[in-house]
Amino acid sequence: MTTPPTLPGSGLPWYVRPAARAWTCAPVPADVRAFHAGLSGYAPTPLVELPAIAALLSVGRAFVKDESTRMGLAAFKVLGASWAVHQVLSRHQVLSRHPAGAELVLVTASDGNHGRAVARMARLFSQRAHVFVPSGVHPVAMAAIAAEGARVTEITGTYDDAVRLAAEAAREPSAVLVQDTAWPGYEQVPGWIVEGYSTLFAEVDQQLAGARAAGPGLVVVPVGVGSLAQAAVTHYRSRPGEPAPALMSVEPEAAACVLASLAGGELVSVPAGATVMAGLNCGTPSMLAWPYLRAGLDAALAITDADSIAAAHELAGRGIPAGPCGAASLAGALAALTGEGADARRAALAIGPDTTVVLLSTEGAAANPVPDAAG
Ligand SMILES: Cc1ncc(COP(=O)(O)O)c(C=O)c1O
Repeated sequence: MTTPPTLPGSGLPWYVRPAARAWTCAPVPADVRAFHAGLSGYAPTPLVELPAIAALLSVGRAFVKDESTRMGLAAFKVLGASWAVHQVLSRHQVLSRHPAGAELVLVTASDGNHGRAVARMARLFSQRAHVFVPSGVHPVAMAAIAAEGARVTEITGTYDDAVRLAAEAAREPSAVLVQDTAWPGYEQVPGWIVEGYSTLFAEVDQQLAGARAAGPGLVVVPVGVGSLAQAAVTHYRSRPGEPAPALMSVEPEAAACVLASLAGGELVSVPAGATVMAGLNCGTPSMLAWPYLRAGLDAALAITDADSIAAAHELAGRGIPAGPCGAASLAGALAALTGEGADARRAALAIGPDTTVVLLSTEGAAANPVPDAAG
């Protein structure tokens, strides 16, 4: 594995590729937003302008997309799970081995948020759910999955191990795997999950227009396997005629698989360590996301738990109850845009004093509590 170059000043890893802004791809199907709009409990989550954060980042305007209230689940993941489960039930169940109306077990592996979202959708559509959870997931997150009526199996091992076990369990005739990462031969469901995330970016477009803000110059995305980042790339690189923002991924140092892959030029796995950013603790990028990330991401970096916790406290002080994964965006933006060597990094990302920055706060602290300090 190639060692990523370090972020000047902080010594943290840093990857940059400004040519990404010129890359283009096809958009997602138009009916995803309409599906979500008709879903019980759906409402756009707030896009909150924080002038104090804009001042900290020395940019024109800063907005935080606050996913802490997403359909009562405190994380964005239900956007993908709902669209994928809808697709699975409407196509798969009728067309293949499951007679229409028979109860299915929706199986998945999750660090918390995706599992809870699949469990909620199983309940909504009168199906069952079985969620495999790796070691180290917060008990609050596990209890939240169980409270949706799902069977929860806590394994001894990493997220990648949990994915393997879930895929095995889903070989049962009455089971379907609803996984938010792809590998050779398993691409359709993760593709639907990525499509589902597009609603978040459609909301951001409308909300920025409503705030009379310029289109973003930088969008910062917390990354686990890279499916959300794939959705960001798909959204912002499929709008001919509109300015293309810089897109930056942020991962925990303990599990920076996308950064390592980008730095080395090929998809690699890294050994996942322990991190408070549980939803980002993934050792292998999604195979489906990888071509989009390699071509369409401008920058990638990794942050420490202490950075994420400090950013979560900063956001909490400004009324945004971000969990550790959600706060990773602000921590990453601070690492990239401020401090020693920031001028060169800002130039590479085309960030100026008037730039609009959008930080995705992908979970609330209710989904994954913020510790007082890194331990
Ligand atoms: C809160 C939160 N943010 C970000 C992510 C990263 O999404 P992805 O794994 O698609 O990169 C996750 C994944 O579970 C998550 O739970």
